[in-house]
Amino acid sequence: MAPLSLRRTRLNPHIRELTQETRVSQAQLIQPLFVVAGIDQRESVPGLHAVFRDTPETLLHQIEQDIESGINKFLLFGVPDKKTQANFNYDFTASQIEAIKKHFGTELWLGADVCLCSHTTHGHCGVLNDSGDHVVNDATVEELAAASVAYARAGADCVAPSDMMDGRVAAIRDALEAGGLDRTVIMSYSAKFHSSFYGPFRLAADSAPAEDIRLKDRATYQIDPGRPRDALLSSERDDLEGADILMVKPGLPYLDVLAELSARIPKPWAVYQTSGEQAAIDMLADQNLLHRDAAQRETWTAFVRAGASMIITYAARRARDCLPR
Ligand code: PBG
Ligand code: ZN
Repeated sequence: MAPLSLRRTRLNPHIRELTQETRVSQAQLIQPLFVVAGIDQRESVPGLHAVFRDTPETLLHQIEQDIESGINKFLLFGVPDKKTQANFNYDFTASQIEAIKKHFGTELWLGADVCLCSHTTHGHCGVLNDSGDHVVNDATVEELAAASVAYARAGADCVAPSDMMDGRVAAIRDALEAGGLDRTVIMSYSAKFHSSFYGPFRLAADSAPAEDIRLKDRATYQIDPGRPRDALLSSERDDLEGADILMVKPGLPYLDVLAELSARIPKPWAVYQTSGEQAAIDMLADQNLLHRDAAQRETWTAFVRAGASMIITYAARRARDCLPR
């Protein structure tokens, strides 16, 4: 008997197309957007290729361009200019959502990130106690529910809590129901790890924890990289609390978690290819040390192979360059 030849089905592009099991389509991609109050020109984000901190005006123009290039799903991060510790105000982001929906209607799908780190003076994802060494869970959850209602009322198709407090999905679901907003999708950052790969994002969203307070990092609320079962518990809980979509974040360092959790919990799974992951690719590409588009496609393929049905990626707007037609 002839030995098994695996090379016959790799011989030319046609047979390679026919035998491919995992395909990525533009329809699976979500483009993050940053809209920043109090700046009069849009700014680029350090380390990221073709990603901006937009003004309300440039934001609409950017979305128009993205729609032309075939992207119609977005995740919005609103960055207000007034930072506080209490009495948070969600009007800036809500009015951006309203403007986007007024302009584009059902042409696009709009998710809104829900967190406090772009609003707080100290950059943490919630309300700090008086001694500044702990993020207070329930006071934070109350704020997150209020923000979610404001964004949903403004027309967001989806609210996406990224804070990692306990019980926030149930609180958000209750608040949405009470507000007659039962069609708003909740996408929970359910398996969000305490990662080093968030650097450029924190510059873009003005959300790095301040140096002059006692709580130095997000380790008391985000998942430890060595605790995959914590990610399972967190995702099972968010599933039961009523999340419609669950998420693993970051992507590449946590492919094992994505594969396992998506096999165990039969809800749609998103993966977030974070700013640090994207910057790693972009900086290698800038040095001609990898092929930008092929590398991008390879990472997206890995996410879909591991069980994601959707990918939040800063390179979504470059999908036509990266994916086969
Ligand atoms: C904050 C938030 C972060 C991201 C999304 N929402 C960073 C963090 O937790 O500090 C990460 C996104 C990225 O790095 O691309 N709630
Ligand atoms: Zn946050």
